[in-house]
Amino acid sequence: MAILVLGGAGYIGSHTVYELIDAGRDVVVADNLITGFRKAVHPKARFYEVDIRDKKAMDALFEKEHIEGVIHFAASSQVGESMVDPLKYYDNNLWGTISLLESMVEHGVDKIVFSSTAATYGEPERMPILEYDRTQPTNCYGETKLAMEKMMSWTSRAHGLRYVALRYFNACGAHASGEIGEAHDPETHLIPVILQVPNGQREKISVFGEDYPTKDGTCVRDYIHVTDLAQAHILALDYLIKGGENNVFNLGNGVGFTVKEVIDVARKVTGHAIPAEICPRRAGDPAQLVASSDKAKTVLGWKPQFNDLETIVSSAWAWHKAHPHGFEG
Ligand code: UFG
Repeated sequence: MAILVLGGAGYIGSHTVYELIDAGRDVVVADNLITGFRKAVHPKARFYEVDIRDKKAMDALFEKEHIEGVIHFAASSQVGESMVDPLKYYDNNLWGTISLLESMVEHGVDKIVFSSTAATYGEPERMPILEYDRTQPTNCYGETKLAMEKMMSWTSRAHGLRYVALRYFNACGAHASGEIGEAHDPETHLIPVILQVPNGQREKISVFGEDYPTKDGTCVRDYIHVTDLAQAHILALDYLIKGGENNVFNLGNGVGFTVKEVIDVARKVTGHAIPAEICPRRAGDPAQLVASSDKAKTVLGWKPQFNDLETIVSSAWAWHKAHPHGFEG
């Protein structure tokens, strides 16, 4: 039986497909290629260019392929964009998931692992963040992801489907093969934007705010390697296959780095001075987001391999240096 990866041409999806194929699994990828890249799809995966909102096409896929479980990455995921175009997020993330769950229920596919986010917490009450802490998103992206979690929960009660929601902190890094890595257009994430400076695509990095209540005044985030995230999806799917109940897990390293610390690591890794300019705060940025991932470690047996920021940034740099224009260069 095959594993269906929705959004398998995107950043975290493509890395998960690589890990699944490496583990000898049969993989089907569906992606509408709006933000994903055909070249990011592992050559051994069967690819369908499908939008999850296209129920007819999804039904046809479920009829053709023998699907054991679904890993669902297909969503819009930019915090800033979600604030100016919220209905796009309701349409793609919520309507897309309604349509998907209908199709799954109709075809008797009852296991789903999906991308949730630290943005479901909003401004955290305490650090590190635990799964049962208050969820009060401060942006529409986080709101739609929280609603997806709730949608799964109610669908589970009614139809017996089981799910795992994985709340990622800051995904970064690239695959060890050098074949796939992070590629967004426009790019807004800190590490790839910093690396545009040594790559000659940007003169300096803008630091969004230096007046946060943190050790150097810049925001603290928990950076987690994309391959470690990918492994967690496989563990979560196997947990459901073995009969595990509905669950939610944080995925982070449990260590926070400030924006300035990340820039310093990038200077060391690239040997470039990387000029930085202090700019005003970016709307909606919480001061600190650091995960407790003890639950994923205990319940799923997850063991992140890349817990050192220098190694993570080095893997990102290897990809960006070799592919300055992502999959289009
Ligand atoms: N930052 C800068 N300059 C930049 C880009 C980012 O200073 O050019 C700062 C941001 O203000 C933030 C930190 O670097 O403090 C990290 O920013 P990212 O945009 O890389 O990541 P976010 O923490 O904003 O967002 C990530 C994921 C989202 C998820 C969110 C959870 O990308 O999908 O974590 O809060 F929703």
